[in-house]
Amino acid sequence: MSRTVPPRGRYLVFGAPRLPEEAIQAAVEVLRSGWLGTGPRVAAFEEEFARYIGTPFAVAVGSCTAALHLALRLAGVGPGDEVITTPMTFAATANVIVHVGARPVFADVDPLTGNLDPEAAEAAITPRTRAIIVVHYAGRPCEMDAFTDLCRRHGLFLIEDAAHALEASYKGRKVGALGDAAAFSFYPTKSLTTGEGGMLTTASGEWAERARVLRLHGLSRDAWRRYRDEEFPDYEVLEPGYKYNMTDIQAAIGLAQMPYLEAWLGRRERLWHLYNDGLKNLEGISLPPEDRRIVHARHLYTIRVNRRQAPFSRDELIRLLHQAGIGTGIHYKALHLHRFYREAFGYRPGMFPNAERISEETLSLPLTAHMDESDVLYVIDTLHRLWAKGRL
Ligand SMILES: Cc1ncc(COP(=O)(O)O)c(C=O)c1O
Repeated sequence: MSRTVPPRGRYLVFGAPRLPEEAIQAAVEVLRSGWLGTGPRVAAFEEEFARYIGTPFAVAVGSCTAALHLALRLAGVGPGDEVITTPMTFAATANVIVHVGARPVFADVDPLTGNLDPEAAEAAITPRTRAIIVVHYAGRPCEMDAFTDLCRRHGLFLIEDAAHALEASYKGRKVGALGDAAAFSFYPTKSLTTGEGGMLTTASGEWAERARVLRLHGLSRDAWRRYRDEEFPDYEVLEPGYKYNMTDIQAAIGLAQMPYLEAWLGRRERLWHLYNDGLKNLEGISLPPEDRRIVHARHLYTIRVNRRQAPFSRDELIRLLHQAGIGTGIHYKALHLHRFYREAFGYRPGMFPNAERISEETLSLPLTAHMDESDVLYVIDTLHRLWAKGRL
């Protein structure tokens, strides 16, 4: 049956979060508890998160951007250094490289997966390279065996931007435990959200300890430890740190979502396959490839719109879907094409053809555990109606 309005007559917001009632109650309890800052809920969230990822340490921070910045500081990256990363990412991944005074060196991506290509990354290594930041694009783990080997051979730090990939694993090992450090995001569109928030994971006790100091002004003891300890609540500034701590309000909201992660992933997986089945015959659309070696976190359902075969360009399609009450996203306009990166580092169109092609063709359709089958069927139905009209 053809529909002309989204199910239940509402706009299908891109990335609408799903918050269980327990998360709302947990936030209320913290608000009533008298301790709103970084405290016992943050510690509990970190413990549960580390257990879920299978990594010794998790340090909660205010955003994934903060976690990425801290990872670079922990790796000792600074002025004069280079960090290789992908142009197929959100600005934060490369901005933090600039924040520590280093140079972001982009390398091209795999034309099908959109993940950083290990061979292109290797070709970009110079004597100044200190680290590689891989981004598990859309929730699909990068080729981590190749990157681990590459970083070992060249003495580089390997940092995972796991903003899209909380539930992902690579050959049986969870993303977030595959490099020297990893950064997760709890931004509202992510599968677990704390409004804003992030997590740094690492197997290094030394890095975790320094991250805890750096996330709160460089203080030797945070407020929770100062007030809880029986001894005199003294502290010292060990180094000029940042204001990157997570609050107990955020942590309580996050912790309450942890038991749902796998069920929500299962739901997104079902919706993903529904999209695949419904869209496979649309001319000019290519669907995300499947890979049995990995668990895909199913964060972004990205299709590619081939202008020569499809009746519409990607940008026309965004407008038409919006008119039909469907919000979409672009992930991403390749980062080297943005003004700052062109002007500051001399990047130009044509340098990373695979990323540029994805950048022009990619479109993310709505996919979250907040949605149900009728939402996805509406999107599929709308696309078929548009294709039928566009062909006239
Ligand atoms: C790949 C990637 N890295 C980093 C970030 C930054 O995350 P946050 O907003 O939590 O700082 C995002 C945010 O959407 C992202 O998609």
